[in-house]
Amino acid sequence: MTEQKGQQQENSRPAGGPGAHTRVREKPHNVGATLRRILHYAAGYRLRLVIVMLCIMISAFAGVAGTYLIKPFIDDYIVPLIGQQNPDLSGFVSLIIKLCCIYAAGVVAAYTYNRLMIPISSGILRQVRTDMYDHMMRLPLKYFDTHSHGEIMSRYSNDTDTLREMLSQGLPQMFSAFLTVTGVFVMMLVLSPLLTLLVLLMLAVMLTVIRKVGSRSGAYFIRQQAEMGRLNGYIEEMINGVKVIKVFCHEDVCKKDFDALNDRLASAACNAHTFANILMPIMGNLSYLHYALTAAIGGILALNGHFGLGTIGSFLQYTRSFSQPITQMAQQVNSILTALAGAERIFRLIDEPLEQDPGTVSLVNVQRAADGSLQECTARSGLWAWKDQAADGSVTYTELKGDVRFQDVVFGYEPEKIVLDHISLYAKPGQKIAFVGATGAGKTTITNLINRFYEIQSGTITYDGIDIRRIEKYHLRRSLAMVLQDTHLFTGTVMENIRYGRLDATDEDCIAAAKCANADYFIRHLPQGYQTVLTGDGANLSQGQRQLLAIARAAVADPPVLILDEATSSIDTHTEALIERGMDQLMQGRTVFVIAHRLSTVRNANAIMVLEHGRIIERGDHDDLIAQKGKYYQLYTGMFELD
Ligand SMILES: Nc1ncnc2c1ncn2[C@@H]1O[C@H](COP(=O)(O)OP(=O)(O)OP(=O)(O)O)[C@@H](O)[C@H]1O
Ligand SMILES: [Mg+2]
Repeated sequence: MTEQKGQQQENSRPAGGPGAHTRVREKPHNVGATLRRILHYAAGYRLRLVIVMLCIMISAFAGVAGTYLIKPFIDDYIVPLIGQQNPDLSGFVSLIIKLCCIYAAGVVAAYTYNRLMIPISSGILRQVRTDMYDHMMRLPLKYFDTHSHGEIMSRYSNDTDTLREMLSQGLPQMFSAFLTVTGVFVMMLVLSPLLTLLVLLMLAVMLTVIRKVGSRSGAYFIRQQAEMGRLNGYIEEMINGVKVIKVFCHEDVCKKDFDALNDRLASAACNAHTFANILMPIMGNLSYLHYALTAAIGGILALNGHFGLGTIGSFLQYTRSFSQPITQMAQQVNSILTALAGAERIFRLIDEPLEQDPGTVSLVNVQRAADGSLQECTARSGLWAWKDQAADGSVTYTELKGDVRFQDVVFGYEPEKIVLDHISLYAKPGQKIAFVGATGAGKTTITNLINRFYEIQSGTITYDGIDIRRIEKYHLRRSLAMVLQDTHLFTGTVMENIRYGRLDATDEDCIAAAKCANADYFIRHLPQGYQTVLTGDGANLSQGQRQLLAIARAAVADPPVLILDEATSSIDTHTEALIERGMDQLMQGRTVFVIAHRLSTVRNANAIMVLEHGRIIERGDHDDLIAQKGKYYQLYTGMFELD
């Protein structure tokens, strides 16, 4: 329940669109657990981390000890030597050498720990990104339905970035500042408990100022983040919709909206930074005041013989190096909390429940033995079988034919909203099954269920007599090729995009598939033919050409079952007829599911299912359905508009 609530909070993005790259700053829910988990990632760097800690200690100690040496410097060498004719400078020089060594050690230590932290933080982040990506790619589609791209992307950009800052700077600085403050405080106590009392008083004043200014600037920072989220979301939406904006001449309206959002961001940023920026000067001035007060009171005490000049010298230097790490810590706390909140979002993604896959049936290459039985083989034999390994170790092979059956299938993307209502259908090997029906009737949904993008609520789907829930998803999907309703092409050459269907396909296989999909002609006319690089989801191609490539990609996979979802909707009827001929040849003896709005495409199907509101209302071949004079007849003869 709390999990769900967290999810909802996470989903509540600032208005303005999907651009959630910058979000309202969240507080981490469980600092301890998150830190432990980050430490777990750092386990491989144990030795280097120990060296880092040692170096931080050395560097802090060098600062504190170096300052302390001012006291013997003044008291033991400068004051006694004043006015002497031939002062003995040997002790003086040896102290200077000692001081140089201490500071040099401090510099080397600081360099070493900063240098070591770079590969450590990069390595940890590399592992975090790997885990995130591996996990993300195995998440059910439902996750992507409910989380925007911007939101998922911000895990890889914003959240990892703040985590990197925390690891490479925040935590080491915090540790170093803490050691310095503690060391300085102890040394102050040693030098003069009385003056230390004054320091404590000033510390209280400083902390009050930090809290007051910090809380005001914190509120403004949250507003700035929210405004930035809105602006980014707006820009992202406008870039995506730039064509629509131009079509409707909405440039001016968009500019006005943008200006308003931009002004709000500017004013929020102004407020946030006013408060943040005044913190440093206030703290600086307070530390000067502190310095002056310490000097005055220390001077009076020295005059009264409480301590020597050297003590004041050291103490004054300590007061200078006391306020800076405190301000640093105050600032780091905020950024560390932001980073931990980001880390929690990353871990939430890594903890998302994975796509369930308890299936045990796999797809293997087989050969037919002399007695007709199937025998597993490693070579690509062209004959495939489902390998079912029972609990007792016995193995049965069922030839892969492409027989798909739905029995009373009920499904809804959300359980309470049924999209498919008691669907039963069968497709025998080699049959071409077509789905027709109005937009939103559930055609794409049926195909989404065959390859188990989503799990059905009740009923069964069988593939060659095997319940598809028993088949491993990887093997199930390998046996199907799908041309999705929204084609997607990857950045790469045309050849690589076709080969995506089967990675071991040769160039000749890809070209043969392109010929079959009738894509060969246009590809040869591209500037570099099959080696033309496609960018931005194939933005340099027409819609129809993209579809042809998608069909070629499915064809090269050479699967027993092919699903074409509106695959030819942007292709002219002449080319479509050519593709159909090529496909028919390719799909000989295999099962094809086609979804088409253009009824001419489905005419030669063995069975046509007419869907309405998630139910099959008519079924039969073209002639049967025309004879029935039902919905199909109306659709076909144009008597009925698609609603
Ligand atoms: N990812 C999703 N999450 C929630 N509901 C969805 C999702 N995809 C589709 N739907 C809903 O399921 C119903 C059926 O959608 P489906 O995509 O199967 O329609 P279709 O018949 O393919 O339509 P079209 O001809 O427009 O492609 C629609 O009412 C739609 O709103
Ligand atoms: Mg559809």
